[in-house]
Amino acid sequence: MCKVSIIMTSYNKPNYVGKAIEAILKQSFKDFELLLMDDNSNEDTQKVIEKYLKDKRIRYFRSDVKNISERTEKNRYAVQINKALSMINGEYISYATDDNIYKPKRLEKMVNFMKNNRKVKICYSSSCVLHLNYEGKLIKNVIRNAKNKLWVASCQVDHCSIMHKADILPIIYEKWHSYWDEDPQFYLIGDARFFWRLNHFWPFYPINEVLDVNYIMETSLHTQIIAEEKSEFIKRLPKQRTCWELRKYLKNLGSDR
Ligand code: TYD
Ligand code: MG
Repeated sequence: MCKVSIIMTSYNKPNYVGKAIEAILKQSFKDFELLLMDDNSNEDTQKVIEKYLKDKRIRYFRSDVKNISERTEKNRYAVQINKALSMINGEYISYATDDNIYKPKRLEKMVNFMKNNRKVKICYSSSCVLHLNYEGKLIKNVIRNAKNKLWVASCQVDHCSIMHKADILPIIYEKWHSYWDEDPQFYLIGDARFFWRLNHFWPFYPINEVLDVNYIMETSLHTQIIAEEKSEFIKRLPKQRTCWELRKYLKNLGSDR
């Protein structure tokens, strides 16, 4: 059994995925496995990924999803993450994407925080979000601070900024019969939907230090959805559910659970 299982989802980010993987392999905390879940990316991306597969800490899985119709049937990253969660060995779970760069001490700081605060099931850190234009130039830089204990974490935190204990997973599964919600109505806010499930039972505890850098670019789902000219992929998605309704529901549950 390793201490941390990191789950990275990947799809067509040849210019970023290598940096994202390297940032994990160079962590100061070494006792981890990386489940690299590639959703049948293009050749350019596959070539970059292959360079790292010699590393024994990487467990690589490539899906066989074929076309847009299959890609929009379910929330693909929820499907990939659920598959990974059924195979993990770690005591703690950490999430990564192909366009997110962990700071070198991210795992060390989070594991120490969890060890020093035994009752904490979920922690989250501050994060730096960099918005890039179509040329890859920086257009906006936002810091998401982790200051408060959160009973409504949906849309306040990105899943690349959290760590949770693996022992909470059976509780989620028992209530909803899955870990992450694969319903494509939550494609845009898949992590907010997972946090909605978590917040039924546990709050998120803050580590007020930037421990990851998140890139949002032209091809990101969040950029695509607000673009004037909609891609075929976006056109095929069902109407997307909103953060507003998730947050309202959680607020009504209250924080005295
Ligand atoms: P991304 O394009 O980075 O969108 P955003 O950052 O705006 O949410 O996609 C998020 C993750 O979803 C990314 O790690 C790749 C994964 N993904 C798949 O695994 N399969 C897919 O078909 C798509 C579109 C995304
Ligand atoms: Mg992204």
